[in-house]
Amino acid sequence: MTQAIQINEFGGPEVMKAVDVTVGEPGPGEVRVRHHASGLNFVDVYHRTGLYPNSLPLVLGTEGAGVVEAVGDGVMHLQIGDRVAYAGGPPGAYSQVRVMPAKTVVQLPDGIDFETGAAMMLKGLTAQYLLKKTLPQGGLQSGDFVLFHAAAGGVGLIACQWARDLGLQLIGTAGSDDKCRLALEHGAAHAINYRQEDFVALVKQITGGMGVKVVYDSIGKDTFEGSLDVLRPLGLMVSYGNASGPVPPVDLGRLKDKGSLHITRPTLFTHLSTRESTQAMADDLFEMVTSGRIKIRIDQRYPLTDVVQAHRDLEARKTTGCSVLLP
Ligand SMILES: NC(=O)c1ccc[n+]([C@@H]2O[C@H](COP(=O)([O-])OP(=O)(O)OC[C@H]3O[C@@H](n4cnc5c(N)ncnc54)[C@H](OP(=O)(O)O)[C@@H]3O)[C@@H](O)[C@H]2O)c1
Repeated sequence: MTQAIQINEFGGPEVMKAVDVTVGEPGPGEVRVRHHASGLNFVDVYHRTGLYPNSLPLVLGTEGAGVVEAVGDGVMHLQIGDRVAYAGGPPGAYSQVRVMPAKTVVQLPDGIDFETGAAMMLKGLTAQYLLKKTLPQGGLQSGDFVLFHAAAGGVGLIACQWARDLGLQLIGTAGSDDKCRLALEHGAAHAINYRQEDFVALVKQITGGMGVKVVYDSIGKDTFEGSLDVLRPLGLMVSYGNASGPVPPVDLGRLKDKGSLHITRPTLFTHLSTRESTQAMADDLFEMVTSGRIKIRIDQRYPLTDVVQAHRDLEARKTTGCSVLLP
């Protein structure tokens, strides 16, 4: 038996309960991982509320780091005792021990501790595929402006640093002046407190009226319209999250009116569909972190059993950077 955080119904943070669950042996293609830390992500909120469908009962959690305890048939890249980390697979990371498909599990370099591994996989791989693989027509060149919402959050602070490394001028939005300062300290070229200022007007001002080639928008309902307004003709709208609620149905004709815009609604999990793509993206992220070009900032640590408070803080916009849950 092991402790896990499970929901038996969809709802608010209070539906999460600590339970004892039985963890068996890994089947073919699976491993059993003993967690040293698990990551907290906004996608866990969507799983908890039922916005993203799953069957019940459900152990939440999509990111973790720990040690391999058992290996199923056919798993060639991992051995008992390996230090590992992962993003994705089916939910289940809010637990002391779990069995999961091995294909999204990678070895954690010696220079990266477990808490950092648990904090950075889902958020760091997301920043990777956004800034390097989800690009406007013609790609991005050094000096280009990009708009990145929630720039002081988990994905956001990693994206600020990665964009700086790529030579991009990231315009970050954040919900307070302190959060804006944090985004600037981590590499944003400009920061806008979008709870107090009109981000559309300011982005136009910063870009000399030109607008940006790409917007990375994880806020959804509250920012979608404004994000379309700051795109240049032929620009790309990357709607990759819904922290304020899902984007209502879009009239495609508006993309024509605003200058032949492109739009995509991506998910990290498409990019992690094979072991090879997962490893290649993880190697890129590990290189950025071990070389010190990206620092993973863990601003909140909670015991696993305090997960209700962790979700309350995340949804109340009280967190910055990454948060981890400790078993
Ligand atoms: N599609 C993908 O592949 C993918 C992968 C990973 C993450 N995501 C998305 O990326 C976003 C960031 O994820 P994260 O885990 O790093 O979370 P996070 O950015 O640390 O937290 C979410 C942030 O969203 C902002 N926000 C704006 N309006 C909000 C509202 N009404 N309620 C709550 N928060 C609001 C808050 O920052 P401010 O106070 O600064 O506004 C809050 O801190 C999430 O939307 C997540 O779903 C998508």
